[in-house]
Amino acid sequence: MRVKSLLVAFGLILGVSFFAVSSADPLHAQCKVIWLFGIPCRDVYVALVNQIKAWRTRASCESGGENCLYELVSSSPILIKAKHTSPTTKDVDDLRFSLYSMEESSVCRVTGEAVSESWEDLMDNGTNYCSLHNLVEGSGLSQVEGYKEYTNEWICLEYTTTNCSIY
Ligand SMILES: *[C@@H]1O[C@H](CO)[C@@H](O)[C@H](O)[C@H]1NC(C)=O
Ligand SMILES: *[C@@H]1O[C@H](CO)[C@@H](O)[C@H](O)[C@H]1NC(C)=O
Repeated sequence: MRVKSLLVAFGLILGVSFFAVSSADPLHAQCKVIWLFGIPCRDVYVALVNQIKAWRTRASCESGGENCLYELVSSSPILIKAKHTSPTTKDVDDLRFSLYSMEESSVCRVTGEAVSESWEDLMDNGTNYCSLHNLVEGSGLSQVEGYKEYTNEWICLEYTTTNCSIY
């Protein structure tokens, strides 16, 4: 009985916090993702910043896709801010990566958030998700020990249907 009510309470808290995230700014398409990496946060930090810089110019999109026109806005070991401009739609996404060392387990936990600057397109074909995920994949971070990615349709629009080779 007690377990059951705890579960209900936990479910309510989760539901409320997901709702809070997804309704924080209902007029812009957005996505929130949590990753775990079994490597130190300073290595995650370097990998993400280097990948943002490597995909700065249009050249890396010459054969299609969206892996270009990233811009580093600011960076510190616990917070990386960047922008991504779509070479096709010119839409701009604001990206934030918050890095948190879980000392007792030497796991780095990263929260990624992407919000479209444009007002119109709530259905963004998953571009917010892809502009985050492509950096993690392109930098090789999705191959490291202990890699896990968590998100869902409530907090990351069109995440299940998108194809990040295109968007
Ligand atoms: C989403 O994809 C459809 C079909 O490819 C396209 O017509 C539409 O413009 C896209 N929307 C955005 C915001 O990219
Ligand atoms: C994603 O898009 C690429 C490039 O158009 C295509 O080759 C691939 O088959 C697509 N993947 C899925 C799962 O649809």
